[in-house]
Amino acid sequence: MKSAPEHLHARLHSLIGQSVATIDTPALVVDLDAMERNLQKMADYAKAHGVKLRPHAKMHKSAALSLRQMQAGAVGMCVQKTSEAEALAAAGVHNLYISNEVIAPPKLQRVAALARNLQARGGRLAIAVDSLLGIEHLAQAMDSGANLIDVFVELDVGQKRCGVAEPADVLPLAQAIASHPSLRLAGLQAYNGRAQHLRTVAERRAALDEVIARVQEARRIVEAAGLSLPLVTGAGSGTFGLEASSGVFGELQAGSYLFMDADYARNEADPAQPAFEHALFVKSQVMSVSPGHVVVDAGHKSHAIESGLPRVHGEALEATGCSDEHTTLRATSSAPLPTLGATLWLIPGHCDPTVNLHDWIVGVRGGLQAGSVTELIRVDARGCLD
Ligand SMILES: Cc1ncc(COP(=O)(O)O)c(C=O)c1O
Repeated sequence: MKSAPEHLHARLHSLIGQSVATIDTPALVVDLDAMERNLQKMADYAKAHGVKLRPHAKMHKSAALSLRQMQAGAVGMCVQKTSEAEALAAAGVHNLYISNEVIAPPKLQRVAALARNLQARGGRLAIAVDSLLGIEHLAQAMDSGANLIDVFVELDVGQKRCGVAEPADVLPLAQAIASHPSLRLAGLQAYNGRAQHLRTVAERRAALDEVIARVQEARRIVEAAGLSLPLVTGAGSGTFGLEASSGVFGELQAGSYLFMDADYARNEADPAQPAFEHALFVKSQVMSVSPGHVVVDAGHKSHAIESGLPRVHGEALEATGCSDEHTTLRATSSAPLPTLGATLWLIPGHCDPTVNLHDWIVGVRGGLQAGSVTELIRVDARGCLD
């Protein structure tokens, strides 16, 4: 008997050229027309604002989509995990930034091997650090050789996650990186994930004022000591317009803009940023109807809800609960509930962990009603957690 993903792939593959109606449920589906509009909008925005774009591939975990973003002008891709970097590199993405800290020496051996491998293919690997120990372990793993890996010092700019706590703490790390010939001091990572989801524009602006002030302070201290931080990298889909116009950020790492989830749709729109369309959906089917509610056949195993329940595309329905294989919906108007067997398109609460639940994304063109399946997109780094 074939393994489940292989078996699934064969079944999904037979959908190519067929109408959207033939996609069995639940299935993760991308509206390629909407996705490409999002992709181009962000590429154009970065170009017009004179900043580099290095989208975050932790969102879609796909080499094919990474390469499409790079063809449209992205300088490379961000990933969060060593194994994500390995999976994307194996599938042809040769410019990668692990925008995260790696401490364990065995994992840093893999980082070092990947850095050499990418360099041999004309590419480049970068990584973030926030400790002297991390820099020591990285330098030991790189062993010998010059300028093998780009290293960004991460500064905490308000999220209280990783990063050195104070701008002055950047200097000793920058000095340590500069003292190791195999490491290249590439700049500063300044990402505030919390700021992305602050609901009002005023709140996001206030958070970014703090981010920018802390970056400027770090830069001033490092430059006063005779070193430079060539590139400041950060930003997500909620605030990238503020980083782009800050005059200090040189690179944007936004990821979710490509698919746009229900959580991002709850943000007040910032007129200074382009608006993006929902492109990622879970196709689901009404499997049970009761007075006052219906149940569709997609639950926790199909979409992630840690950032809120899914929305229902184009319907006056709201999700009231979710279990492993079910989502319960009720009407938000006096319109009749959908009937048994009806198709409903769920917009996931959070795209990143939703994609990680699937081996393949079904790509459609021509819309969710009249369109057809044109390709399957492999989630190359699915389950790459280490
Ligand atoms: C370090 C880093 N950069 C960029 C992003 C991209 O953010 P978004 O997907 O919200 O655009 C993330 C997402 O969590 C992140 O952790």
